[in-house]
Amino acid sequence: MKKYNFNAGPSILPDVVLQKASEAIFDFNGTGLSILSISHRTKPFEDVLAEAKALFKELLNIPDGYSIYFVGGGASTQFFHIPANFLGKKAAYVNTGVWTKKAIKEAKYYGEVNVIASSEDRNFCYIPKGFEIPTDCDYLYTCHNNTIYGTEYKEDIDSPIPHICDMSSDILSCPVDVSKYALIYGGAQKNLAPAGVTFVIVRDDMLDKIVRELPSMMNAKLHVENNSMLNTPPVFPIYVMLETLRWMKAQGGLQTIYEQNCRKAAMLYAEIDRNKLFRGTVDKEDRSNMNICFVMNPEYESLAAEFLAFATERDIVGIKGHRLVGGFRASCYNALPIEHVEYLVQTMQEFEKMHA
Ligand SMILES: Cc1ncc(COP(=O)(O)O)c(C=O)c1O
Repeated sequence: MKKYNFNAGPSILPDVVLQKASEAIFDFNGTGLSILSISHRTKPFEDVLAEAKALFKELLNIPDGYSIYFVGGGASTQFFHIPANFLGKKAAYVNTGVWTKKAIKEAKYYGEVNVIASSEDRNFCYIPKGFEIPTDCDYLYTCHNNTIYGTEYKEDIDSPIPHICDMSSDILSCPVDVSKYALIYGGAQKNLAPAGVTFVIVRDDMLDKIVRELPSMMNAKLHVENNSMLNTPPVFPIYVMLETLRWMKAQGGLQTIYEQNCRKAAMLYAEIDRNKLFRGTVDKEDRSNMNICFVMNPEYESLAAEFLAFATERDIVGIKGHRLVGGFRASCYNALPIEHVEYLVQTMQEFEKMHA
């Protein structure tokens, strides 16, 4: 029996990808070897890497002049790799929640951090707007989608300084104008792969602006020059990512997936706004398509645990909100079928009939 999987990450991947991955564990591409047991320095894996990079470039419409590499360590490793490489004196950070706070903390090991805008005054329920970007900073840092609070930038910022962005939880869920970013990175364990691989898309001129001598594994230029093979890359997660990218292309590409994501999110937000029992937690214009947060309306607060139990009984998994926000969070990543959102909506409606 399959569950309705709304986990925030690691999270749902397409069935066809899981099928391919399980086949490759026993026999990768007819090699007679498991994908878990091949050397990364072999033609079959080099082909995987090359195709994954090419598809990433094609699907996200990455212009020439950018490089992509894949590395272990999780997105959190980039919290310090980025300032180590690019923070000479001062950097500008926009604080939109836990993940930017962590990035700010790590950046302070390398230089001055200017927090130029923050939404902490209302528990990060919105995206700050209209802030000035100081031109005396080495870079601007933002987080495109705030997984815990359910906020998402809807426009690509025009920045006078290099813009570095964490897109861990909405990469390849919506089109972005990559040319407006100097570096985009993220953990792949939401929309792309199992945990274990981080993608970094970096504009090539940045690689000549590395501000200090660094240990090799921290040096972005060395990762690019060594084609993601500075050390043993996460072979299996990269392979699964490739299958997910192939699946995305077969779906019709990013625009089709984005439209589907918009339909799913609109359906769930409409129910949150309509249903007497629930309310959304995020300012409407900043609502994330990926992580949809809601709570009980105050007069029904006491029903929260009962709703969670009701949903669990109906095979709905992963909708308990993060402890910093409470309530519920339904993560609707690319692979989540629209029927699963319909099912959650029906569940909310049935619960309303029982109580309101
Ligand atoms: C937006 C965002 N950034 C960074 C991270 C940290 O990722 P990792 O666990 O791969 O270090 C997460 C994890 O959920 C996240 O959602």
